[in-house]
Amino acid sequence: MFGITEYLTDEHRDCDELYAKVERLVSEGRWQEATEAFRKFKEETLKHFQKEEEVLFPEFEGRTGIVMGPTQVMRMEHAQARELISKMEKALEKKDKKAFLSVGETFMILIQQHNMKEEQILYPMCDQHLDAPEVVHKMESL
Ligand SMILES: [Fe+2]
Ligand SMILES: [Fe+2]
Repeated sequence: MFGITEYLTDEHRDCDELYAKVERLVSEGRWQEATEAFRKFKEETLKHFQKEEEVLFPEFEGRTGIVMGPTQVMRMEHAQARELISKMEKALEKKDKKAFLSVGETFMILIQQHNMKEEQILYPMCDQHLDAPEVVHKMESL
């Protein structure tokens, strides 16, 4: 069965690949392509956050009654990730390779830890407690 874990884990992999591409283009100083690739990376990442914040987390909270638990931590980490994404964007606009790669590294460390917690703990709990096909459908419709 195609569950929540599989659906959202695939998106984590897609976002990782999009970021890797941006990083490579920035390293090579190919700024125009990097800017284009960054736009895609940012769009996909923010869309993924939106699916979690507007569908998954409220469904989890509503079903389990756990509102001050893992979903709260995940929302805070999304806020940190959004801030790092705008710092990356500014570095990109200034064509500041060093600043971009440094913020990018911080972003990757944060997001890898964040994704691991979701994939190993939160998503399996969601698959266990929620109507997975319905939730995936709602996220897909956003
Ligand atoms: Fe998340
Ligand atoms: Fe996620």
